[in-house]
Amino acid sequence: MNKIKIAVIEGDGIGKEVIPAAVDVLHAVGLDFESVPVEVGYGKWKRTGQAMDEHDLDIIRSCKCILFGAITTPNDPDYKSVLVRIRQEIGLYANIRPFRSLNITIDSPLKPGHPFDFLIVRENTEGLYAGIEEFSEDRACTTKLVTKKGTVRIAKMACKLAKERKNRLTIVHKANVIKSCKFFRDICMDIAKQNSVQYNEMLVDAMAYNLILNPEKYDVLVMSNLFGDILSDMSAALVGSLGLCPSSNIGEEHALFEPVHGSAPDIAGKGIANPIAAILSVKLLLTWVQEFEKADLVQEAVDHVLENGIRTIDLGGSGSTTDVSGAVIDYIKTKSSLALGFS
Ligand code: NAI
Ligand code: MG
Repeated sequence: MNKIKIAVIEGDGIGKEVIPAAVDVLHAVGLDFESVPVEVGYGKWKRTGQAMDEHDLDIIRSCKCILFGAITTPNDPDYKSVLVRIRQEIGLYANIRPFRSLNITIDSPLKPGHPFDFLIVRENTEGLYAGIEEFSEDRACTTKLVTKKGTVRIAKMACKLAKERKNRLTIVHKANVIKSCKFFRDICMDIAKQNSVQYNEMLVDAMAYNLILNPEKYDVLVMSNLFGDILSDMSAALVGSLGLCPSSNIGEEHALFEPVHGSAPDIAGKGIANPIAAILSVKLLLTWVQEFEKADLVQEAVDHVLENGIRTIDLGGSGSTTDVSGAVIDYIKTKSSLALGFS
């Protein structure tokens, strides 16, 4: 079998710390892969005037999957988001973000009463991120693009995931005010009916409120691009830290895996970033390439390390990035050698 080619984009800030840790985890589980480093982002933009060029995109296209850290957005109106461009260029239409409560108690202002486990399915190529914008001195306008093709495919993906889980879909929108949301909602409802998926609908503002109050009530939530971006960060606060939450960006042929968080310039370079979001992004990658046992082992290792109190500062601990990733790797290596009969 050919080696899996993985484009590794560390990006900026803490991307340069958490992605190497995640790659070490991929090696530890013994995945047969070729790592293809690609430098894109703010650092490259400062050096060359371009954050990503056509050659970078060709390399990315030639890989089956991409492991992505985060990219700092410069304060320049002409700068186009690299990640949004990658998502659009290689058709990564579904951004899937799992949020699951932990078994550990952490010092968080939000303490949900019950365990929760829900998925945000965010449309990734359209909405207000489609890049249809015009500016003049006294007016700025961003168009929210919602197409039938784009909505049908994200709704089908959400229904497929709902059927693999508890068969409960919540369609999130603002159809009472925004007509393109009504268009999105109606298509999602049709697709849910066609696929015999139980569904309800909720206005995005009420959704934010209800997710904080009763996250355990939800299974799969489907929504347009901006709503998904905002509710994802809010849901990360429910879990306890942005540093714990992974995501996958799925297309017809490619998939990109990345932590939900950004480049965190406030803590970059200090070696204290939580690597778990990036490590769990590796778990999602392993699931996508159907290495289910390896994926389970990564989750087991992360749970073990957190339960044993090896935690970074965002979780009230004092461990460094490499303390946490090293402990995850030690667990994986010990488990793997036990499975081979070594002790
Ligand atoms: P951010 O996610 O980078 O940070 C928000 C807060 O969470 C910060 O206080 C940060 O220290 C903390 N945090 C994030 N990840 C953490 C981790 N792994 N461990 C511990 N603490 C963590 O969002 P922010 O500050 O709004 O954006 C910073 C830069 O990142 C901006 O330039 C933004 O455009 C970019 N960004 C990039 C994304 C991407 O490339 N996917 C996504 C979000 C933001
Ligand atoms: Mg975001």
